[in-house]
This record gives sequence, C-alpha cells and structure tokens, in this order.
Amino acid sequence: MRLISSPDSVLPAVLAAMENTPDARLRELMGGLVRHLHAYVQEVRLTEAEFERAIGFLVGIGQATGPTKNEVILASDLLGVSTVVALQNNLDPGGETHAALLGPFWRANAPVCQPGESIARGDTPGRELLVRGTVYDESGEPLAGVTVDAWQASPVGLYENQDEQQPDMNLRGRFSTDAQGAYHFRTVVPAGYPVPTDGPCGELLRAQRRHPNRPAHLHFMVSKPGYRVLVTQVFLDEEDALLTDPVFGVTQPLVGQLAEQDTGGAAELQRDFRLVPGPTVFPTPPIP
Ligand SMILES: [Fe+2]
Repeated sequence: MRLISSPDSVLPAVLAAMENTPDARLRELMGGLVRHLHAYVQEVRLTEAEFERAIGFLVGIGQATGPTKNEVILASDLLGVSTVVALQNNLDPGGETHAALLGPFWRANAPVCQPGESIARGDTPGRELLVRGTVYDESGEPLAGVTVDAWQASPVGLYENQDEQQPDMNLRGRFSTDAQGAYHFRTVVPAGYPVPTDGPCGELLRAQRRHPNRPAHLHFMVSKPGYRVLVTQVFLDEEDALLTDPVFGVTQPLVGQLAEQDTGGAAELQRDFRLVPGPTVFPTPPIP
C-alpha cells in the first residue's frame, strides 16, 4: 500500500476503497463513473475555478427542481444522456426502437377517459386533432385493455403545470384499448415549445448558443401488466425543428404525419404501438 503521490495515483486508491462493495452492479457502476470522471478531469485539465463552477451547476439544478419543474432531468436531456439510455434499453431485434425519453413533464394519475373523449379541457383554443391507433403485441396480435397515457403541451407551447390559464391536468389523459386493441381520443394540435430556460440549464444553452425549442410532439406511455412500459413521443413538426431538437429525442420511427380529416378542418394522427413482454415498471414521475 502506497500513499497517493500524483494525480494518476488517486484513481487506483479510489477503486481500491470501493472494491468491497457487496452489490456487484453498484461496484461496476461506481467504478466506471470514477474512471471516466478522473479521465475527464485530466483530459481537459479542469481548473479549480471550473470545478467550483461545475459544482455550482449541480447544486443549481437541484435547487431549481420543484413541484412544477425537474431541472435535473432537463440537464440529462440536454446532454443527450436521457436519449442514449432510452435507445439502448429499448432496441427492437432490428436495431430500431419506438421508445423516446420521458421528458420532465409526465404526471402520474392523469384522468381516466372514455374512448373518443377530448383531453383538451376548459377553453383550449387550437386546431382539433383526432389521434387513433392500435396496440399490438410482439407477434402482431391486437392487445385489449392497454392503457394509453397521453400528454402534450398546449398550442401556446406550455404544459398545464407551467400555465395558470389551463385547468389542472389539461391535455393529459389515459385511455384503454378496446377488444380490437384500438384507442382513439381528441385533442388539439400541439405546438413546439422552449424547454425551461430560467434555470442553470437555460444559462448553459445560452453559453453554447443553442436554441431551446423542441419540435411539436405528443408524449405517450403505453402499458399493460405483463408487458414492458413503452415511453415514447410522436413528432409533428417541420424538418428543421426535427433536426435541432435540444434534447435529441427525434428518431425516424417517431416522426408522425398529420392527415386532413374530411370534415371540419380537423387533423388526424394515426399511431400504432407494439408492446413486448417483460416487467411492467413505471418511471418515477418527474413532477407530482
Ligand atoms: Fe414534451
């Protein structure tokens, strides 16, 4: 055993200190984290002032997190980490996935709705949108009794919890698939929106000359006991917006096309989902 004598000699000492961690996975996770952190600090030759700034950022994202905003999730999203986690854990056999990051605005316990009901509650102006589709299992059989939980921003680009003008739980609802695996509901066409920029993440975006605007999208969480929970999004926006999503959530299978309905100027979005068997584990809601 030798005392620490140089920057390079710190890492072996830390790894040795963590060696007796009984949980093998925790040992692996922390070992990997420490190896990469030490390599990073040395690669960029982190100064003391920069280290202080980094600590300040982490403290700041914690302090900026509250009942209506989860700045820590936002930070993970803006670094692309949330998308990497979502993609690598949900690949199809063909190497694709229909999963996407959860984002910071999912709330558990959205209202349970009847088929065809509108999730635009109160006075929510906007172009009417009919969303319909079928949920299948992995062999292509329709699945009945699947919960399709949908949430979205309003046409002004705000989720209800960010906006005093919207009723509680506006533009959020849970639907159940029928005996043919079908679901449908009504809403309004969502708008793109800026991720919150009033905290440390906004400061970072400005320093990096990045815009905060997400392309217009709907969020879905599709679940049935005995199947893996599918968390996904469908994007409706123009190509430019799709290419510069600040949270890197847009993949080709998630781009949806709006169709015109025959009557009334409403739009229609057809979206099918496929569930695969597995443990049904819901994420922790980012906000209550
Ligand atoms: Fe969103």
